[in-house]
Amino acid sequence: MYNIYGKIIGTGHCVPDNPVPNKYFETILETDDEWIRTRTGIESRYFSTGQNTSGLGTKAAEYALKDAGIEAEELDMIVFATISPDAFMPSTACIVQKNIGAVNAFAFDITAACSGFVYALTAANQFIKTGQVKTVLVLGGEVLSKALDFTDRSTAVLFGDGAGAAILQKSNEPGIIQTYLGSKADEKNCLFLKALPLENPFIEEKDTKKGIIMDGREVFKFSTRIIGEALDKALEGTGYTYDDVKMIIPHQANSRLIEYATEKKNIPKEKFYLNIDQYSNTSGGTIPIALNEVRQKKLVISGDLILLVGFGAGLTWGSLLIRL
Ligand code: ACO
Repeated sequence: MYNIYGKIIGTGHCVPDNPVPNKYFETILETDDEWIRTRTGIESRYFSTGQNTSGLGTKAAEYALKDAGIEAEELDMIVFATISPDAFMPSTACIVQKNIGAVNAFAFDITAACSGFVYALTAANQFIKTGQVKTVLVLGGEVLSKALDFTDRSTAVLFGDGAGAAILQKSNEPGIIQTYLGSKADEKNCLFLKALPLENPFIEEKDTKKGIIMDGREVFKFSTRIIGEALDKALEGTGYTYDDVKMIIPHQANSRLIEYATEKKNIPKEKFYLNIDQYSNTSGGTIPIALNEVRQKKLVISGDLILLVGFGAGLTWGSLLIRL
């Protein structure tokens, strides 16, 4: 069991065909490109013109299968990390299963917000290590535009739509070396997205507030502390140091926040891959989209060590040390 690893053999990503630059928000809100760019690092994002989360996930899955050189029938398991599912039932993973024809897989969703992909990859790795499955499709992605309040400038400008996928396969060669997950009650309710409103004939007070509720300063404090802690945990006891790591892929929440965390840890800034300028924050989608980009751009190659780190609502966080 201990010489069995989950190894990444393919990746893919998909965003809607509708880039929306910061300037768009100048036409609907009291904001401007400069405020958004300097506070967050975001220049643009993609918004759906009709695709739902399963649609973006299906495309990402098809690209990842092609990259891995395997057929959908070879998948034993599909796990989809999302906070913007198409429906409460069926799961988005089951819809992707149908779309790609993964007839031999079982499928389910995971909810861990912006840590979702890290949680999903960790779960997939555990199923592989126990011998229950051999090949897993791990997805993370969102259509967050359907959850945004476009009258709230403090959140509407921060989020976007997109999905990424990775194929994880059983291997005797090191792949996922170490994983670490954490969560803690969000006592200050600093990140919240309501599901169905509490509404029935016996409830008098209806809650009509829509959209993501965020206390930006609290999120900033939590995230800048947890990024460093989680990264240290992924390396702890492995014998590896930050010098051995080729690249760190953080959840793309906010470039200022990541730069601050980097300085605190004294890790060279260049090790952190950032693409938030193009995509904004796609929650469960940010890490798999970035992972696919760094592989496609050959910024990392087979044999390199990478770190992934996620953090978000819950509160949740987690990290992985991976040999590609
Ligand atoms: N355009 C112009 N002004 C704005 C905007 C906007 N889009 N949004 C807020 N403001 C205004 C506020 O109304 C406020 O105005 P006031 O002083 O007149 O009341 C002013 O800007 C300052 O507001 P703050 O919220 O204090 O702004 P701050 O400098 O803290 O920046 C930000 C806000 C960027 C959200 C910051 O708190 C932050 O980086 N937090 C981290 C949160 C984050 O990254 N969340 C991502 C999602 S969560 C996750 O992925 C884990």
